[in-house]
Amino acid sequence: MASGWFLLAASILLLSGLPETCYGVTFSSLQRTLVLSASPTPGQVLKAGEGKMTVTWSYNQTFPTGTDSTYKSVTVKLCFAPVSQVDRKWRKTADDLAKDKTCQFKVVSGPYTPDSFSSTWTIENDVPTATYFVRAYAYDSDGAEVAYGQTTDAHKTQNLFEIKGITGRHASIDVASACFSAFSIASLVCFFYIEKRKEKMSQQK
Ligand SMILES: *[C@@H]1O[C@H](CO)[C@@H](O)[C@H](O)[C@H]1NC(C)=O
Repeated sequence: MASGWFLLAASILLLSGLPETCYGVTFSSLQRTLVLSASPTPGQVLKAGEGKMTVTWSYNQTFPTGTDSTYKSVTVKLCFAPVSQVDRKWRKTADDLAKDKTCQFKVVSGPYTPDSFSSTWTIENDVPTATYFVRAYAYDSDGAEVAYGQTTDAHKTQNLFEIKGITGRHASIDVASACFSAFSIASLVCFFYIEKRKEKMSQQK
């Protein structure tokens, strides 16, 4: 029975995944022709909503001229490092870029130019606490990925930085205020109790 369900699930997965695996661009097929750098230093902690970073990209001139002839636009994205993907399938890396969830936050996008281009971005409020790197994709006129560049090595372990999300800070404030309210209610109850006792005692005299 269980294996029957498994087979059914597997075939549904296979069928629904088939069109994408046929036509999707895979990350492994892309050349790393963009030189990308970002201002955060390794291990730096930036705060969502206030931290800023500057990204700079250009074409790596060691590749033959013309390699970038189909590049039309560039989008720079903030990507989860492997350490922040563990046990989180909603951040999982897939070679098929249509399914890849590594890079979920757009930093900047613009027309492609082989010359160096810089842009500064304030980290948005909804970026969660995690370890990140930055990746840039070049797209052709059909909007398909044709090349990339990233601020880390192929194993995504070097030159990583941290972002501290707002929700984490809010949660701790919420906990603190909840504790505080519980404490105020408790003291109020105590206060009434003592007052009532005093009243009773003075009536008994
Ligand atoms: C440019 O590409 C070459 C070949 O892949 C590589 O060895 C070199 O490090 C790259 N340059 C930069 C600045 O990333």
